[in-house]
Amino acid sequence: MRAYPVASLPTTADNGPMHDPRPLLHDPYIEWVQTQPADRFDYDLGSSGLAVDWDWRAWGVDLAAMPAEQPNWRGIEPLRARLAAHLGLGVDHVVVAPGTSGANALALSALVAPGVRVALEHPVYSPMTRLVQALGGDIVSLPRRAALGWAIDPAGLAERLAGCEVCFVSNPHNPTGCLLDDEAIATLAGACERAGATLVVDEVYREFPGADGVGTAAAHGDHVVVTSSLTKAYGLGGLRIGWIAGAPAFLDRVAEANHLLLGRGCVPSEWLAERVLANTDALAALRADIARRAAAGRDALDAFVARHDTAHWVRPAVGICGLVSLPDGTDGDAFTARCRDEARVYVVPGAFFGVPDAIRLSCGAAPDALAAGLERLDPLFASLGR
Ligand SMILES: Cc1ncc(COP(=O)(O)O)c(C=O)c1O
Repeated sequence: MRAYPVASLPTTADNGPMHDPRPLLHDPYIEWVQTQPADRFDYDLGSSGLAVDWDWRAWGVDLAAMPAEQPNWRGIEPLRARLAAHLGLGVDHVVVAPGTSGANALALSALVAPGVRVALEHPVYSPMTRLVQALGGDIVSLPRRAALGWAIDPAGLAERLAGCEVCFVSNPHNPTGCLLDDEAIATLAGACERAGATLVVDEVYREFPGADGVGTAAAHGDHVVVTSSLTKAYGLGGLRIGWIAGAPAFLDRVAEANHLLLGRGCVPSEWLAERVLANTDALAALRADIARRAAAGRDALDAFVARHDTAHWVRPAVGICGLVSLPDGTDGDAFTARCRDEARVYVVPGAFFGVPDAIRLSCGAAPDALAAGLERLDPLFASLGR
């Protein structure tokens, strides 16, 4: 064990703050989500995750069998083994993290320091911008194009990645639901390797059925890191079970960051997650149900968009979210407020993803509620044409 003599540690008393970048550990999107008043909405057509009614007894979970508290720095072994099998990787290629948020924070804190150049997809889940800024990184935009079905534009990829040490994308993409296939991920991973950049792929939406037809990006080389969780597809966000997959040497650095920032993992949550993954029959039935719900929901959203000249989108390949473009110049924030005030429907402003004249629509609501909510939005979309 390394020993640090206490006297050698700098203190604010003798030399003041060593480094004070004053990071903004604040994200307007998360703040907005947290402050939306539930009593102003009848229908949720904005959330990106499914709500699932969990009945742990029906799932065959016996709480009396929960293991005792124990040292737990990378995740309990049975869960890591399940996750590794789920991803088709060796167990030393996976560590458990507190949700995808925790996984992203840990992975990027091991990669980004002041002045490190980070390529971020655009549109982007806004907390990633804030996280890179908080760590002192310099952001370079990596555009996705609506004309390419929201895929990453391969034109100029090498130039954009030049000088970057990190590249971050989500696959499937939040907010558009675009799914990059194996070939597109291989192209991006190859470009990152040539640029000397680590590619971080947030695969939280890959847990939705349909996305698993594309292999995990972690299979594309030691310079690729993957983050994910049980949050979005399974409605288990409260368990805070996420993971980071990558090369063992990188995961050693992540483990050090974990010791510093978060401490030990939560054995009860990890055990419950392991029980979920262990019950393969129940999981297959749940996934079949999710697949049906999500596909029917996407059909309903697609029919809605098709009946409005004022709405355009690229139908999402998987999941429950898509980005709906409004007529040029429309203020998506103001339109979102109208959805709340005039229709009592919750949608998310596109500005939080860097697309101010759009909103994110989702179809995670029950079919009747989805249809009723969309009906309430009909007159609002019609009014945009006038
Ligand atoms: C791309 C992306 N990553 C991470 C998260 C957060 O995931 P978790 O709840 O597992 O922390 C979200 C939630 O919206 C997301 O869209």
